Amino acid sequence: MNLGNNTVLITGGGSGIGLSLASHFVQNGSTVIICGRNKNKLEEAKLKHPPITTYVCDVGKPDERISMFKWISNEFPTLNILVNNAGIQRRGLQLMQEQAWDTLSEEIKINLEAPIHLSMLFIPQLIKQENPAIVNVTSSLAFVPLSIAPIYSATKAALHSFTLSLRQQLIDTPISVLEIIPPAVNTDLGGKGLHTFGVDVDEFTNAIVHQLKSGQIEAAYGAATESSQASREQIDLIFKRMNQRK
Ligand SMILES: NC(=O)c1ccc[n+]([C@@H]2O[C@H](COP(=O)([O-])OP(=O)(O)OC[C@H]3O[C@@H](n4cnc5c(N)ncnc54)[C@H](OP(=O)(O)O)[C@@H]3O)[C@@H](O)[C@H]2O)c1
Repeated sequence: MNLGNNTVLITGGGSGIGLSLASHFVQNGSTVIICGRNKNKLEEAKLKHPPITTYVCDVGKPDERISMFKWISNEFPTLNILVNNAGIQRRGLQLMQEQAWDTLSEEIKINLEAPIHLSMLFIPQLIKQENPAIVNVTSSLAFVPLSIAPIYSATKAALHSFTLSLRQQLIDTPISVLEIIPPAVNTDLGGKGLHTFGVDVDEFTNAIVHQLKSGQIEAAYGAATESSQASREQIDLIFKRMNQRK
C-alpha cells in the first residue's frame, strides 16, 4: 500500500492507533478524514495535524453511518481508502451480570456491525478509484480470546473472519482488503490506564506502516504476530497463559 496520494477515512481517528495512522497518511501527503463521537477529541487531533478533516459520527448507529457516507460521497468523491479502526472494549463478568442488552450489544454494533456496513456502503465508490483499499483493525484477541473481554474478543474474531471472506469476494476487483492486527498497545482503549503495559502506539504504527508499504495484506506486531500465526495447540497454551486465574 502506498501511503501518499490517497483520500482516507479513518474511523476512530481522533486518538490512539487511528490518530497515529492518520499522521502517517498526512505526512505522506494523503487527504485524511477522521471520525469519532467526541467533537473535542477530534478538534484536538486537528490541532496536531491541521490538514485533517473531522466529522462527528457514532459508527455504532446505522443512520449516522449512512449520513457520513453520503457526506463523504459529496465532499470527497475520490475517497479510496476506508480504515475501519473505531472500537471499544468492555471488561468484566458481563455475561454473568444482569445488564441491558442495549449496553451489552454496543461492542457488537461498533466493532463488528459498523465495519461490515461501512464496507458495504463504500465499496461502490471505492471500486471506481485508483488503489482502493479497505483496512480492518482487528486484534490479537481475534485469535486467542481474553475471557474477561468476551464480546470484544468475539467481535474481533468475527471481523477477522469477515475480512478473509471480503478479500475473497473482492478478488476480481481493484479493492485490496487489508488487516491490521495489534497486540496490546498503550492507548486509552477500554479506559485510561488499562493498556499502559502495551507497546508504544507510534512504535506499533511505524512497524505496521512498514509492513503495509511492503505489500503485506495482514500486518501484525509483537505478540499479535505470535497469536495470529499460532497452531491450535499453541493457541490453547496462549489461552491458558492469558486466562489463568490467580
Ligand atoms: N490498544 C490496544 O491494545 C488494541 C489492541 C488490539 C486492537 N485494538 C483496536 O485498535 C482500534 C483503535 O483502538 P485504540 O487502541 O487506538 O483505542 P482508542 O484510543 O480508545 O481509540 C478508539 C477510537 O475509536 C473511537 N470510537 C469508539 N467508539 C466509536 C463510535 N461508536 N463511533 C465512532 N468512533 C468511535 C474513539 O473516539 P470517540 O470516543 O470520540 O468516539 C477513539 O478515538 C480499535 O478497533 C481497537 O479494538 C487496540
